[in-house]
Amino acid sequence: MHKFTTIILLLFISALSSGAQDEVTCSGIVPLKNRYDKISITDFGAVGDGKTVNTKAFRAAIFRIKHYKRRGGTLLYVPPGVYLTDRFNLTSHMTLYLASGAVIKASQVVSKDVSYWPLADPLPSYGRGREREGGRYMSFILGDGVRDVIISGENGTIDGQGDVWWDMWRQRTLPHTRPHLVEFMHSSDIIISNVIFKNSPFWNIHPVYCSNVVVRYVTILAPADSPNTDGIDPDSSSNVCIEDSYIANGDDMIAIKSGWDEYGVAYGRPSSDITIRRVTGSTPFAGIAIGSEMSGGVQNVLAEHINLFNMGVGIHIKTNVGRGGYIRNVTISNVYIEKARKGIKIAGNVGDHPDDKFNPNTLPVVQDITMKSIWGEKILQPGLVKGIKNAPFTNICLSDINLHGSYSAKTTPWQCSDVKGSALKVSPWPCSELISSQDAGFCSIQA
Ligand SMILES: *[C@@H]1O[C@H](CO)[C@@H](O)[C@H](O)[C@H]1NC(C)=O
Ligand SMILES: *[C@@H]1O[C@H](CO)[C@@H](O)[C@H](O)[C@H]1NC(C)=O
Repeated sequence: MHKFTTIILLLFISALSSGAQDEVTCSGIVPLKNRYDKISITDFGAVGDGKTVNTKAFRAAIFRIKHYKRRGGTLLYVPPGVYLTDRFNLTSHMTLYLASGAVIKASQVVSKDVSYWPLADPLPSYGRGREREGGRYMSFILGDGVRDVIISGENGTIDGQGDVWWDMWRQRTLPHTRPHLVEFMHSSDIIISNVIFKNSPFWNIHPVYCSNVVVRYVTILAPADSPNTDGIDPDSSSNVCIEDSYIANGDDMIAIKSGWDEYGVAYGRPSSDITIRRVTGSTPFAGIAIGSEMSGGVQNVLAEHINLFNMGVGIHIKTNVGRGGYIRNVTISNVYIEKARKGIKIAGNVGDHPDDKFNPNTLPVVQDITMKSIWGEKILQPGLVKGIKNAPFTNICLSDINLHGSYSAKTTPWQCSDVKGSALKVSPWPCSELISSQDAGFCSIQA
C-alpha cells in the first residue's frame, strides 16, 4: 500500500477507536450474565393468541426459576405473540426475554374490572398511596427484594392497557393508587433494556429503595393526555444509569424522587449517583425532573445530551415547604429543547402534601445546581428560579444557555426570587439575582 494512504488510514482508524473510547455508557454498573439455562413460557402452557389468560404459565415458570435454581440463573423466553396475563412477580437470577413481536399485556383490565387487583402496603417514604390514602395496587410486573434481574430482548412490548385506569382517575372513581407498569423494590443489579413500554396505568418504570439499576435502549409510549404516566422514576435509589432511550408520555419523562414530607424525612433514603444520557422525547410536563417528592434527599445527578420536543418544561427542579431533604450537586448539560412553555424551572412551591401533618418549617435545601450548554428554540418563557423564603436556593450556576422564543421584550424572560448564583453567557440575560461573575469558582464554562 502507498505509504501516504497507510498513514491516512491509520489516523482514521485511531480517530475511530478513540471516539469509541470516549463514548461513555452504563455498561459495567451491572455485570452482564450469560444464562445457560433457558426456558420458554410456552413450555408452561402459555398461548400467545391475545385471548388466553396466561397468569398460571408466568407464575409457574417463575416458580420454577425460583425453586429449581440453575447455575448462572435462567432466561425465560417469551416468543412472538400477545400474552395476556394478570400481574406477576419476578425472582432473582432471571432474565425476562421478549422476542421481537412478543407482547405481555395486562389482562385484568380487559374486563374493566380491577376489583381483583391485589393491594400492597404504602411505601414507608410516602406513608400512603401517592394518589389515594391507604394501600396501592401492586405493580403489574414487580421485583421485590430481588437481585440480578434482567428484562430485555428484541424490543418486545409490555402493555399496561392503562386507559381503564386513566378513565377511573378522570372520573374520580379510582379506589386506590394506580399500579406501576414495572417496579423494583429493595432490589439490586437490575438491567432493563431493549423493551417497549406502552400505556402504563401510572408511572412506567419505578425503582424504589434499589441500587445498581441500568435502563437503556427502552422506548416508553403513552398518550400526551394520559395522567401521571411518568417514564422512569428513580426513587430513593442509588447508582441508577439511564441512557439511549426515547420517551413520549403524559407526565415527566424522567423524575428523580425520594419520598415526601414527614414520611420521606423519617425514612431518610436519598436518591444518589444518578446518570442520564442520550435521552430523547416529548411530554406536556418535564423532560428531566427532580422532585417534587425529595424528602430523603437527591444528590450527585448528571444528565447530558438530552433532546426535548414539544414540552411543557424542559428541565424542572421542584420542591415545597414541609419537604425537608436536599437537592444538591446536580449537573445538567448539552440539552436541546424545541418548543416548550418553559425552558428551565427551579421552584420551591410545587406539589401537594400527603396530609396536613407536615411541618411547614421543615425546609428543603437546594444547592450546587449547574446547567450548561442548553439551546432552546420556540421557548415561551426561558426561565423561572424561585427559591423559598428563609431557604434560598444557592450556588445555582447557569452557563452557556440560549433560549430563543417568541416572548416579548417587555415581559421579563426570567423570573427569580430567593436564589443566589451565577450566570455566564446566558441569553436572554437572566435576572439580577444571578449575578454574572467570571470568577465565581463554582460556575464556569469549563466546570
Ligand atoms: C408478589 O410479591 C408481593 C410483595 O413481595 C407479595 O406480597 C405477593 O404476595 C406476591 N404475589 C404473588 C402472587 O406471589
Ligand atoms: C431496539 O431498539 C433500540 C432503540 O431503542 C435499537 O437501538 C435496537 O437496535 C433495537 N433492537 C432490535 C433487535 O431491533
